Amino acid sequence: MTLLKKVMERVLQFTPEKEPDPLIGEGKYIGKAMKRVDGVLKVTGQAQFTAEYKFDNIAYAALAYSTIAKGKITTLDTADAESSGGVITVITYKNAPKIGKPALMDPSGGSSGAMAADIPVLQDERIYWNGQPIAVVVAETQDQADEAVSLIKVEYEEEKAVVSFESELPNAKTPKDVLGEDPEVKVGNAEEAYEKSAHKVDHVYRTPRYNHNAIEPHATIAHWESDEKLVVFDASQMLYAFKNTFAKMFLIKPENVEVLSPFVGGGFGGKGSMWQHSILCVAAARAAKRPVKLNLSREGVYRIVGGRTPSVQHVALGANQDGQLEALIHHGTTQTTEYNNFAEQFSFPARYLYNSKTFDIGQKVVHTDTLANTFMRAPGESIGTFALESAMDELAHEMNIDPIKLREINEPKSDPLRHIPFSCRNIVQAYKVGAESFGWDPKKPGSQSDGKWRVGQGVATAYYPYYRFPGKAKAKIFSNGTASIQAAAHEMGMGTATVQLQHFADRMTLPIEQVSMQYGNTSLPESPMAGGSNQTASLGASIEAAVTALVEVCIKAANKSASSPFKGLHAKDVDIKSGGIYGKETDVGCSFVEILKLAGVDELEAEGASGQPFEMLKHSMHSYGAQFCEVRVHSETGELRIARWLACFDAGRIINPKTAESQFRGGIIMGIGMALMEETIYDDRYGRVANPSLAEYHMPVHLDIPHIEIKYLNIPDEHAPLGARGIGEIGITGAAAAIANAVFNATGRRIRELPITLDKLL
Ligand code: MOS
Repeated sequence: MTLLKKVMERVLQFTPEKEPDPLIGEGKYIGKAMKRVDGVLKVTGQAQFTAEYKFDNIAYAALAYSTIAKGKITTLDTADAESSGGVITVITYKNAPKIGKPALMDPSGGSSGAMAADIPVLQDERIYWNGQPIAVVVAETQDQADEAVSLIKVEYEEEKAVVSFESELPNAKTPKDVLGEDPEVKVGNAEEAYEKSAHKVDHVYRTPRYNHNAIEPHATIAHWESDEKLVVFDASQMLYAFKNTFAKMFLIKPENVEVLSPFVGGGFGGKGSMWQHSILCVAAARAAKRPVKLNLSREGVYRIVGGRTPSVQHVALGANQDGQLEALIHHGTTQTTEYNNFAEQFSFPARYLYNSKTFDIGQKVVHTDTLANTFMRAPGESIGTFALESAMDELAHEMNIDPIKLREINEPKSDPLRHIPFSCRNIVQAYKVGAESFGWDPKKPGSQSDGKWRVGQGVATAYYPYYRFPGKAKAKIFSNGTASIQAAAHEMGMGTATVQLQHFADRMTLPIEQVSMQYGNTSLPESPMAGGSNQTASLGASIEAAVTALVEVCIKAANKSASSPFKGLHAKDVDIKSGGIYGKETDVGCSFVEILKLAGVDELEAEGASGQPFEMLKHSMHSYGAQFCEVRVHSETGELRIARWLACFDAGRIINPKTAESQFRGGIIMGIGMALMEETIYDDRYGRVANPSLAEYHMPVHLDIPHIEIKYLNIPDEHAPLGARGIGEIGITGAAAAIANAVFNATGRRIRELPITLDKLL
């Protein structure tokens, strides 16, 4: 998002301030492999997820979904459902409470709205996609609600719907922008340069639809404390945007809405915008005048939560005798709807990874009458690296050189399109470390076997941009010697509080046992969404700001006492050290506990706000990695197994190797699923998902995953808070290409269409 226009417009309204503090070389806890602070809560089942909260007098909701893609409801007979056992109310467009216009998500990181699509929620008879909620049943138990849903009778007047991505390809259009960047980039005459190139590859790559399958299906509990006051538990990656959306759509004041989401069972982008069930749950609670819980079934997630777009991508690479790129051409088409206009940024890797004399990059979209597609872990970069990194491998093969060497030859010294310096880029070194540790030694394609198994190695580059958004945090100290940090941050399993407590303890020079963090609800200071792998850097900067503000507050408070050691001193004259505040020059000062004594209070607090991400304007900031894998393909059955995996990442400072490795591994496992088995089967006649369950949508299980060895360079990025760039998404990038490249090395067969199922290998 480094070129994201809206962010930049916002950034440019502010006067530059100092860059974030990378805390280089400091600290007792940063960099240590520490256990998750919520680990015990989670493994003992005490960590409560949205669906687990108990309310007195709670009622349960279930949704009925449309079975046509476009048209209108002509008959909606809810009589049987209403008289079914335990039913409290059935809500349809005919009797739904007034719900305002959807407050749309702001892709530049603002919190004004969260809705994924601009479609009215249960306000009229129109149908926009196959699976759209058409009724909400509220009952005393979940079973009663589910049973009543099956009794609703509905008839439609169908209209001709555009649901097939493939058949719409000839009608593809250029979108306005791609996450804020220009959809088309041209440097020189790439066609001509390509034609004249000594070495050429030119191929089309395809990726299918993918659905979100976080272990926790989406869930909401809504409770109207009064007509004006709303409390919502919701599995969310963006608490404040949810709060503002509920306020806008239910026409109440934002300060009268509280959203809580202390633990989220995986987000991956699927909870990075709001889907209709959240709004419908709040509406149901209003209608039933009781707290209502709406848990989506697994099928429900497939019906109303968007997934990853399918893509068709064309990559043509031309290189001279020495392997230097003369032409980098990457064009392709993804899907979107009229109601979300989301062009997935598959072309970003091609904009930042390689030098080339000429570039021709272009994205198109087709509009379909389907559920809005959305972010899914490294949206764009995951599918974009599949195409680009497969093509690089094809070029290396064509030239008969090592694919790592080819990448080294084309390694840019500065941003190849924007011509500004990279903040910190060590991709060549990541390949070197990775190749050594992995034992990179690819043989001639199709030449290696072990019994009936063909064996091969593959490599590909992982790439994901750096993002940071402004946010707030509050720091507190207490007379018992403890301190706490508060921010409406999100814990989706990645170790949010664990790493920030390492940070906070180091910044406060306190033992980690004496610090705590409160997060996960909107009564706390506003944090940006947890998405785009931004949260660690963003929170890092907010916590830095809060601690800086706290020092000022401490000095002022202590100076109320005649015996304050801080007379005449300001924040700039002191340092935090040894669990207190001391003069930079003089070393005169006292502990935080003594400060509270001098001030005569039991606690002190200060809120700080981090500034705009100017580092992103001045530098081209990204994370990188080298993915290595070894595959085995059975020569008779086509069975494909991943035998070994090693990845080496260049993602800035690694704050906690334990949680970071888990993030990288999780991304790679998701990449293995994307490459080998995951695929949403779409009925192109009706626009309906035909495999809405984990029985038919295949995900990798333990037996599909080898030991994944994670390496990282751990070179702090001096332009990022904590020296850390994001790590949540990069693991999935390059993974599918590494597998496809290894499959080629094992079998001599190039698969350019995911998933690589055995029918394609036989
Ligand atoms: Mo991520 S796909 O921004 O949760």
